[in-house]
Amino acid sequence: MRKVAADALKELFDAAKQDGVYLAGVSGYRSESRQTTLYNNYVDRDGVKAADTYSARPGHSEHQTGLTIDVSGTDGKCAAESCFAGTKEAKWLADHAYEYGFIIRYPEGKESITGYKYEPWHIRYVGKDIAEDVTKKDITLEQYFGSAVPVSK
Ligand code: DAL
Ligand code: ZN
Repeated sequence: MRKVAADALKELFDAAKQDGVYLAGVSGYRSESRQTTLYNNYVDRDGVKAADTYSARPGHSEHQTGLTIDVSGTDGKCAAESCFAGTKEAKWLADHAYEYGFIIRYPEGKESITGYKYEPWHIRYVGKDIAEDVTKKDITLEQYFGSAVPVSK
């Protein structure tokens, strides 16, 4: 990951540990070719329409920015799977990720805005100010930039 995000992630992992929550990274930076392989495998397995609801196409994944990581508990249980929702690790991330500059990028119930299914494990570094704003307002990054940046036609 990029240093700014890696440093923040270390702080986040350390803070979680203080609270008895042991986190591990599952998938951080991905190259274009790695994302291509992943996406193509999902398409082969589930078809394009389904794959597009949970996997970014190559060139469109935040994982390619080095600012995003998928996180699980150190036991690896439910790593990047829907059963991660509701675990104490997911709850800790939802409550505290913003304190370290991360947001849950694809929240529950916001699929029509983000374009992706709920991913309680996928955190994106945006810096503390934006992370706090996005989290406390319970909005997505799309909504944050939509309201913060005037758009003219
Ligand atoms: N799972 C997210 C959307 C990605 O592929 O980047
Ligand atoms: Zn992810």
